[in-house]
Amino acid sequence: MSQFTIPKFLLYLVFLIITRGNHYTLNSDVITTRSTSRSRSTEPHLSTDAPKIIIGGGPASGKGTQCEIISMQFGVVHLSSGDILREAVKGDSYIGRIAQKYMDEGKLVPDDVIIEVINERLKQDDCQKRGWLLDGFPRTKYQAEALLKAKMVPDAFIVLEVPDYILIDRVCGRRMDPLTGKIYNLKYDPPTDEAVRTRLMKRSDDDEEKIKTRILDYKAHIEAVKSYFSDQIVTVDGSLPSGKVSAQVVEGIKMRLASASLHSTKRSEGQKWFPVA
Ligand code: AP5
Repeated sequence: MSQFTIPKFLLYLVFLIITRGNHYTLNSDVITTRSTSRSRSTEPHLSTDAPKIIIGGGPASGKGTQCEIISMQFGVVHLSSGDILREAVKGDSYIGRIAQKYMDEGKLVPDDVIIEVINERLKQDDCQKRGWLLDGFPRTKYQAEALLKAKMVPDAFIVLEVPDYILIDRVCGRRMDPLTGKIYNLKYDPPTDEAVRTRLMKRSDDDEEKIKTRILDYKAHIEAVKSYFSDQIVTVDGSLPSGKVSAQVVEGIKMRLASASLHSTKRSEGQKWFPVA
């Protein structure tokens, strides 16, 4: 019998691989991080170990809302293609001037423009060390291909599924606090502070007509995008209350990260090593 006993250090190694040094407490509404997940944001990590996450979903499906929790929980750099483009428009940069016309009409900006911006950003040190969370990219087949061509392969691809009528309802109530950048919803998540309420702003593309164009665009492309990431996809019901969505999102990411770790361990086990002089 003793020849079948698994050595303790091997069991511990498997445990370390699966948990990747994080300890989470999770229930359906509250997520707390007990531990080391913050250390991801300050300590250098090998790029192969750092989490690589994508979140997709229709307009106003809750991507930005979930990204706050994901980046806190996993310590990754949050890159929102929409925010990057809005900053470029505000700064009146060359890219901003190209993007503005499309964004004002609720249409996708040309692939070449956004691909270059995102790929350059992903190469930077913080993304390489801490890992990244792409919000709203890739959105087309060409963007998905460009990402993979740049060897930016995600561990997890979260897709938030929300029916159209809820998307329209959410977009009409969305407001942003210009001082903190925090997103609120007049119906589902209003600010409690009166001072915040009075300074809230509405996004220029948040009207019913433009959101219909954005939903059509999303539906025209999402299946093609998903087909490139079938091993990493986690579908989440984004119509639930935010806390319940977060619980499923975090659970899904943890599951995919554990599976990616095991795959990379298996790959390295399969490698042959030779002594050198
Ligand atoms: P972008 O900014 O990415 O817009 P979007 O995809 O339309 O997504 P949103 O930011 O509108 O919504 P969200 O999913 O983040 O939802 P949120 O958390 O805010 O892109 C804007 C434009 O930029 C595009 O139209 C395009 O022109 C261009 N662009 C961007 N990326 C591009 C790309 N890759 N290629 C080409 N062009 C690109 O939530 C919405 C509201 O709902 C909030 O009020 C929130 O409080 C509320 N809420 C969230 N979750 C819940 C919940 N579970 N229950 C109730 N309320 C909720």
